[in-house]
Amino acid sequence: MKIKRLEKVYEGKAKILYATEDPALMIQYFKDDASAFDGVKKGTIVDKGVINNEVSNRIYKHLEEKGIKTHFVEQLSDRETLVKRLDIIPIEVVLRNVAAGSLCKRLGIEEGKIFDPPILEFFYKNDDLHDPLINDCHALIFKWATQAELDVLREYGYRINSLMITFFKERNIRLVDFKLEFGRYKGEILLGDEISPDGCRLWHSETGEKMDKDRFRFSMGSVEEKYREVYNLVCSDKN
Ligand code: TMP
Ligand code: ASP
Repeated sequence: MKIKRLEKVYEGKAKILYATEDPALMIQYFKDDASAFDGVKKGTIVDKGVINNEVSNRIYKHLEEKGIKTHFVEQLSDRETLVKRLDIIPIEVVLRNVAAGSLCKRLGIEEGKIFDPPILEFFYKNDDLHDPLINDCHALIFKWATQAELDVLREYGYRINSLMITFFKERNIRLVDFKLEFGRYKGEILLGDEISPDGCRLWHSETGEKMDKDRFRFSMGSVEEKYREVYNLVCSDKN
């Protein structure tokens, strides 16, 4: 069946969501636009949209096979995927296996320290406030989620992290940290958004080279090349 793309419902920094004729489904369109530090730094990463669409779908299919419920329905084109329309919970769930990024700054920890068990953090999804770190009390008092939902976010976060560590390890990639977003759909909590080099820290298992958005954030060069490398490592066994 040909899915018709209707009006734009939401435009974020890296993606656009369009309505379809089915109110329960939307089209997620991946742009090449890149932003960092809550929109302070802006740019373009050529073909990022195509790469992130392919990489994320490859991962969501793998997670579905392992029993994780996601918003993924089907890929429609190189930049478009049909997804279930979620009521997004405004909490970013971050899993950390190795110290990097904001955790190092916040707690004075040296980059590279291994966390076993991993660290799970909740952030309030709000760019104007710079996505502040929160705990369960904030989420409950401000009604961003119920306790039952927070429990699901935590359980899903840890399970997805274990699955992703193995998935990336088999492809010569070390999963340092990553961010997940979830939403409500017909009485269930589903994994939404995307899993791609935009929202993960991915280091090459052998060389330690950074292959994610940190290259853009910190103007390290070879951004497109490293995104492409992740695509090749993740999607080469696509069929
Ligand atoms: P952080 O170290 O900046 O807190 O980021 C942790 C992980 O979450 C990292 O892999 C990047 C990802 N992330 C996003 O995808 N979006 C965001 O807005 C932020 C702050 C982090
Ligand atoms: N995703 C956020 C932004 O677009 C933060 C980041 O990735 O650094 O600004």
